[in-house]
Amino acid sequence: MTMPPAPAGFDAGIHSDDAFAQSILNGLNASKKGIDSKWLYDATGSQLFDTITELAEYYPTRTELGILRQNASSLKEFVTNGAALVELGSGSSTKTRALLNVLTGLQSYVPIDISADHLQDAADHVAREYSHLDVIPVVADFTAEITLPSALLDAPKIVFFPGSTIGNFEIDGAAQLLGRMRKMAGVAAFVVGVDLVKDADILVRAYDDPKGVTAAFNLNLLTRINRDLGADFDLSGFKHEARWVADHKRIEMHLVSQVAQDVLLLGQKIHFAAGETIHTENSHKYTPDLLERTARQQGWLVHQFWTDANSLFGVAVLTPYKG
Ligand code: AVJ
Repeated sequence: MTMPPAPAGFDAGIHSDDAFAQSILNGLNASKKGIDSKWLYDATGSQLFDTITELAEYYPTRTELGILRQNASSLKEFVTNGAALVELGSGSSTKTRALLNVLTGLQSYVPIDISADHLQDAADHVAREYSHLDVIPVVADFTAEITLPSALLDAPKIVFFPGSTIGNFEIDGAAQLLGRMRKMAGVAAFVVGVDLVKDADILVRAYDDPKGVTAAFNLNLLTRINRDLGADFDLSGFKHEARWVADHKRIEMHLVSQVAQDVLLLGQKIHFAAGETIHTENSHKYTPDLLERTARQQGWLVHQFWTDANSLFGVAVLTPYKG
């Protein structure tokens, strides 16, 4: 799909927002409307997500942190001479600290993020607190090829991917990522957090909290589109919905059009039938078995699988399978 010309007199900075505009237009012109979940995280969205992580109903963040604090020291076996902790994403400094505090033999910390701003912040904080560490931020999209600085090529590496961010990928995409990490030179372990399949009520409540923070997080996408692309979404015409889709083992977030309506977006009229939805996020849940099979197909063994007392969340320590 190509960009339509901007309507005469329209100037809301769409030129600097081409990728966003293009992605939104593509998504809303598809037969099943959807928006890439990465667009949820503008400044407001990131703040709302931080609030979500503190909700009683949203158990993943605090549960994973507890699991990491309890088990981090068993990663010492991977901290050999010159070892690096490589983190995919850089938004989770408390989780990073749970590892850095006990893995005192690490030589370097390598946060990888697509956003140079987030990255510099995370790197600065860690560098200030852990003065013995070489902090080497790398701007890269970890869903694509990652090129590490040559000084790191030989370093033994622990790759850390917390937050059940892997759950945003479909299983094929998660498998691809596992395969790519397996080929990283010197990788000794891949530590990955996954949310676990559980009672649907608990899952749905975690994504549709009674305070409406998750609803605000989801609806903020429309605010962002209105602001940055000059659209005229009426927010009262859409409702947040979280669905457990058992066939795909995932929570889906949708914005459900409450009525038949048209929205004007970059000179295009987008029609919504009553009840039609915009699919805005997938959050895949794993069983230990599904994780094991997916990992094994990509050359990994589940060396350890840590969980909490209620089996809400899992952290897998994967090691290269040789043979
Ligand atoms: C940041 C993708 C891990 O899927 O649980 C939280 C995002 N969306 N509540 C998740 C999210 C709604 C979160 N991840």
